[in-house]
Amino acid sequence: MQGRPIPESIIEEVKQRNEIVSVVEQYVRLEKKSAQNLFGLCPFHSEATPSFSVSPGKQIYYCFGCHKGGDVIHFMMDIEKISYIEAIKVLAEKVKIELPTSNDHEYQKKVDLQKKLYSANTEAARYFYKNLIGPQGAGARDYLKNRSIDPSTVKRFGMGYAVDEWEGLYRHLKSKGYSDDIIFLTGLFKKRANNQKISRDITASNSQSARTHSEEPPAENSSISMYDLFRNRLMFPIFDYLGRIVAFGGRVLDDSLPKYINSPETPIYIKGRHLYGFHIAKSSKAKNLIIVEGYMDAIAMHQAGVDNAVASLGTALTEQQAMLIRKHSENAIIAYDSDAAGQNATLRGLEILTKKGCKVSVLCMPEGKDPDEYIRRNGAERFIALTKDAMPLMDYKLFSAYNLSNKESTFDRIAYQDYACNILAAQENRIVRELYASVVAEKLGISIDPVLAETERRIRQKSNDADKAPVYTPQPHVVDDDIHYEITEQSKATKEELYFLCLLSSDPKIYGLMEPPIELSFFSPGLMQIIASEAIDLAKENKLTSSALVEIGSENVVNQRKLSELFASGCMKVGEDVSVKKAVEEATNLYIKMKILMYMDEKDKITKQLILKTDDLVTTEEKKKTLLLISNKISELRNRSGLK
Ligand code: UTP
Ligand code: MN
Repeated sequence: MQGRPIPESIIEEVKQRNEIVSVVEQYVRLEKKSAQNLFGLCPFHSEATPSFSVSPGKQIYYCFGCHKGGDVIHFMMDIEKISYIEAIKVLAEKVKIELPTSNDHEYQKKVDLQKKLYSANTEAARYFYKNLIGPQGAGARDYLKNRSIDPSTVKRFGMGYAVDEWEGLYRHLKSKGYSDDIIFLTGLFKKRANNQKISRDITASNSQSARTHSEEPPAENSSISMYDLFRNRLMFPIFDYLGRIVAFGGRVLDDSLPKYINSPETPIYIKGRHLYGFHIAKSSKAKNLIIVEGYMDAIAMHQAGVDNAVASLGTALTEQQAMLIRKHSENAIIAYDSDAAGQNATLRGLEILTKKGCKVSVLCMPEGKDPDEYIRRNGAERFIALTKDAMPLMDYKLFSAYNLSNKESTFDRIAYQDYACNILAAQENRIVRELYASVVAEKLGISIDPVLAETERRIRQKSNDADKAPVYTPQPHVVDDDIHYEITEQSKATKEELYFLCLLSSDPKIYGLMEPPIELSFFSPGLMQIIASEAIDLAKENKLTSSALVEIGSENVVNQRKLSELFASGCMKVGEDVSVKKAVEEATNLYIKMKILMYMDEKDKITKQLILKTDDLVTTEEKKKTLLLISNKISELRNRSGLK
């Protein structure tokens, strides 16, 4: 297991104080359906009848439909798509438990600063929102109305309006008690260059724009040293994946330039790290994310019910963004503008996402420049239909190659065969190559053979070049600063041992009442013996509860499933009204079954060796004896338990 920087006792306290029902209820409406459990519609998959259950007694949840399950920490991980450590941090914060931080003074200072900046940003967003709904926001409200943005969407995305004043936000933050230092570090302000230096000559600057963001307050306002960066703009808070406001974008209400300005980098905002709308899209039940370019595209899509849209903000998708996407899902659809810049960005985005292990397809909008315009012109239904036939990667690449070779409506076959053969040569799967080679051949009006031959030639050439180049090792998993995925070997467990541990955890008394004492050697070798030993240690101290067992399973994979989920499932099956006596009986029988299984396994192994006749005579005789002993043990155990 990975080293955990947070002590177990604190994790225990975090769990104790975060009652699972009250945490889950913030996301799911729960109803009492059985004597012990509450049920609701599963937040992790689509369903019409509730199969998501929470046990207040055991402090665990489990979905009988999609098999997600665990304790309150796992619930936070699943619902907020965060790591184990992050989930503990979020829960600790909810109940005001101070987590031990590094003693490092600098570190503490950094955390304090970040907290103040998040809070100042939230305060700024409130201010912008109040402006928007207030008397000064009439123009911005009209603008939104013209773009068919509903008030509920405005609220959902926390949009607002920056009034046309030099110090509107500055004064607001001052009145809320923020210091000049913090105010400046939010990135929402500019300092007057060189004291009294007169601002740029307005008449000489951009003729379209009466005001641009680089403009300074006039010289007569000499008292102003720091002034609002965003003035007379529609405001879009940028949230991080936990929903904290890290920055803002601001759009003009007319055609002036620059159309958008964005916060500069700050101690809490690094450009290219965030995806606009991700904090909402991450809870979508869709199996993929749709990546668009702009704020308004993402917003329009969410309003139309496409809740898995995120915007990369600007055209270049970064590696960090690609990792965030991959972490959420294996599939991604790129829906960039259909202009040339958008298409180039699409191709680059495809490369980055593919490299990070995403299966990418591309949504081409036949009419309308971007998703927002498309939805406004053609309606949400048609847009949703469009997302259903996004083009797979190869189709899109060949389609772009065709477009690139088709200048001024003459088809340049030489250019096309070059692009196309390179695309085919990059495809590893031979069958896929051949399928697409026929598409290329058809476009060129030739037979498939020369296309395949040229492709193979390029592959050989590439591999010759590659022999000289350093070896590229693909990353097995998506890795982020603070998010880790444990890579475990393929551990196995029997259903008997899994359920046995679940039974033990249903009441701390069971372990002590079992006879004879439990031996670890009857658990599957490897991971399960380690897990069982941890569980038994807790049982000896009377501390083995269902939620503690689920916790032990954290970050482990068994039978290709998360162990915490397997435990949650097993624990849910143990009735809460079973008497301790019955549970001890059942556990004892299971334990005997585990023993029998282990002996049978051993018997199989020896039998195989005997059949293969690889041993000398003496060893063979010994093995036959062992086999007999094992068989006797098995019948003895069977007789004792009444098992067949
Ligand atoms: P677009 O020009 O496609 O804008 O830029 P848009 O999102 O469609 O905006 P509307 O519909 O005209 O309101 C895409 C994205 O590029 C960034 C913004 O994040 C924008 O959403 N951008 C664009 C800037 O940062 N600055 C600009 O001046 C323009
Ligand atoms: Mn647009």
